[in-house]
Amino acid sequence: MTPYEDIRVEGHLIDSGIMSAIMDAVVELEGEFETLSFEVGRTNDDASVALLRIKAPSDERLDEILHIIQEHGAVPVDPSDADLAPAPADGVLPDRFYSTTNLQTWIRIGGKWVAVQGVEMDLGVCVDLATGTARSVPMAEVRTGDICVVGHKGLRIKPQERPRDRQAFEFMNSAVSSEKPKAQVVAEVARLLRESRKAGKGTIVVAGPAVVHTGAASHLARLVRLGYVDVLFGGNAVAVHDIESSLYGTSLGVSMTEGTPTLGGHEHHLRAINTIRSCGSITAAVEQGVLTSGLMHTLVDTGTPFVLAGSIRDDGPLPDVITDVIEAQNAMRTYCRTAGTCLMLSTMLHSIATGNMLPADTATVCIDINPAVVTKLADRGSWQTIGIVTDVGLFLEQLANDLER
Ligand SMILES: NC(=O)c1ccc[n+]([C@@H]2O[C@H](COP(=O)([O-])OP(=O)(O)OC[C@H]3O[C@@H](n4cnc5c(N)ncnc54)[C@H](O)[C@@H]3O)[C@@H](O)[C@H]2O)c1
Repeated sequence: MTPYEDIRVEGHLIDSGIMSAIMDAVVELEGEFETLSFEVGRTNDDASVALLRIKAPSDERLDEILHIIQEHGAVPVDPSDADLAPAPADGVLPDRFYSTTNLQTWIRIGGKWVAVQGVEMDLGVCVDLATGTARSVPMAEVRTGDICVVGHKGLRIKPQERPRDRQAFEFMNSAVSSEKPKAQVVAEVARLLRESRKAGKGTIVVAGPAVVHTGAASHLARLVRLGYVDVLFGGNAVAVHDIESSLYGTSLGVSMTEGTPTLGGHEHHLRAINTIRSCGSITAAVEQGVLTSGLMHTLVDTGTPFVLAGSIRDDGPLPDVITDVIEAQNAMRTYCRTAGTCLMLSTMLHSIATGNMLPADTATVCIDINPAVVTKLADRGSWQTIGIVTDVGLFLEQLANDLER
């Protein structure tokens, strides 16, 4: 008998492309589908429900197909519990461990569906059988004997659906090239930030040193003062050059007022780092009256948290930079799990890191002057991500002006 499984899928199956994605996957893997029933939602908000029989040439192939279509929300009509196995060593997941997506996931334990806490892709899932709970866990944090999900039985995933709000859909669905008018785009990003704040959800801003080099740190500081930034992510450079501009009036030795290199200016950022190191931290430098202006000063002054993650090319670094990557990931992860919006401003390194930790439904706006970087950052397979090719300095000034109005 041809191996088969009956699956059920529910949601905005047609306009979010879920039905076609499932059918394509089945055909691509040499399977067959038979539609047992298909109830189409009658309004924009109504969900559709489909029952499909999935057939495959072998049990292994059926397994493969079910794994792929699971990510589009397909669940066996008669689901079994998730398979579990203990972690064999600290930092090692069991063979065939289930690797997470950036979509909301449930696992079935003891006949009950349990939500996996912490939506993030490329992690394992550990189960606490005593409390009947499940959480996503980075590989490095798994401890010997932790009970982990293996295989892909007993799993339910909420598929990506396009936003129901027409305005949001049109905006998030249109990649913004350098040739499109920017005022409208800035107004849309401002609307997004206002809505996120109104909904009580945090905004993460990921910023690179180009924000400072282009003279836009003061505009980002305005956003902080207006309460639109809940946490700043970056590396050594954004903080170093901001502090350099505050202490010396230059960024990488270039005068912030003249736009020309200053004599001996190439040393300014090193002297700035040394000054902060002698104070103990950026916060201490503010408290000691050494750092009195700039973006980092504004963050400290307003009590806005920041996470500075180290990288191989850092000078110094500043004492606040977290040089252990696992520790830096964990510090960022906490914010990623609750944020409503993320603005990625001209840093490929830190934006990619952040993007990999965000759930798919976090509204994400990537701004970079290089179209290839924008395409890479915006390519999260998510309806909620938009890429904008523009100069970050001009963008931030307009955004702060719009939000101030
Ligand atoms: N002195 C230092 O310690 C120092 C100096 C530089 C960088 N770093 C560190 O190196 C790492 C990577 O640095 P990064 O994030 O700058 O590099 P990155 O290459 O990851 O990203 C820089 C991005 O900025 C974009 N960009 C440049 N000018 C722009 C503009 N005007 N408008 C919009 N986008 C623009 C580029 O296209 C590029 O994609 C970070 O951790 C940083 O802290 C340290």
